[in-house]
Amino acid sequence: MNRERSLSGSNGYGRELGIDIMAELGSRTGASTPVRWLDLCCGSGRALVEAAMLLGERGMAEQVEIIGLDLVDYFVGGPLPSSLRLISGSVTGWEPDGRFDLITCVHGLHYVGDKLGALSRAASWLSGDGLFLANFDVRSIRRANGAPAGRRLTAQLRAQGFTYDSARRRISYHGHRQVQFPYRYLGADDHAGPNYTGQPAVDSFYESLRQAVSGGLPEAE
Ligand SMILES: C[S@@+](CC[C@H](N)C(=O)[O-])C[C@H]1O[C@@H](n2cnc3c(N)ncnc32)[C@H](O)[C@@H]1O
Repeated sequence: MNRERSLSGSNGYGRELGIDIMAELGSRTGASTPVRWLDLCCGSGRALVEAAMLLGERGMAEQVEIIGLDLVDYFVGGPLPSSLRLISGSVTGWEPDGRFDLITCVHGLHYVGDKLGALSRAASWLSGDGLFLANFDVRSIRRANGAPAGRRLTAQLRAQGFTYDSARRRISYHGHRQVQFPYRYLGADDHAGPNYTGQPAVDSFYESLRQAVSGGLPEAE
């Protein structure tokens, strides 16, 4: 598990998410309040420190607030730039103190139990024109019998407003919304084996609230 990604470079946040994070933050500055970036499952926080230092060098430290959240309280050492806070907590239980203009999650959802719950929570934390962007493998969402949830889930994600790029395995969402998936979280398997990244990952199991008696998400079409 790589907890040390940089902001840029061949294995960096920009490459993994397909955006230039500094440009995205810069394009949102200019309002009376700071731009707020939340990075879920931030690992060591290295990429966030790099971003905060770049902002400082560009005289923009006051214009952007960065929060990193990770389950494991094992962050980069040393004093942090004033624009950055690193917080220990779970994406499935943590409560933010406000909305965010940018929410990212770089290869973190692979390890979360209730992934659909995490997606719902992230969408509800966005500002009106906020952007959520994460690496997400739809095959990690399983029916109660272990089968992949399939295209019905992808369709449900799209119906709820998410954009899923199946080739790059990225999910995104624009704007604030209370998303409610019609699925119930059953539990997770942390011995699911490697996913497309080659790293061991966690499968998450759900049943359809509409078809609970059939014991799982609807069959793929
Ligand atoms: C592969 S690392 C990625 C770290 C960082 N985003 C990076 O790319 O360097 C996945 C991270 O997800 C964190 N994580 C796993 N489950 C989590 C949860 N429920 N809430 C918050 N963080 C979680 C792990 O502690 C780990 O640091």
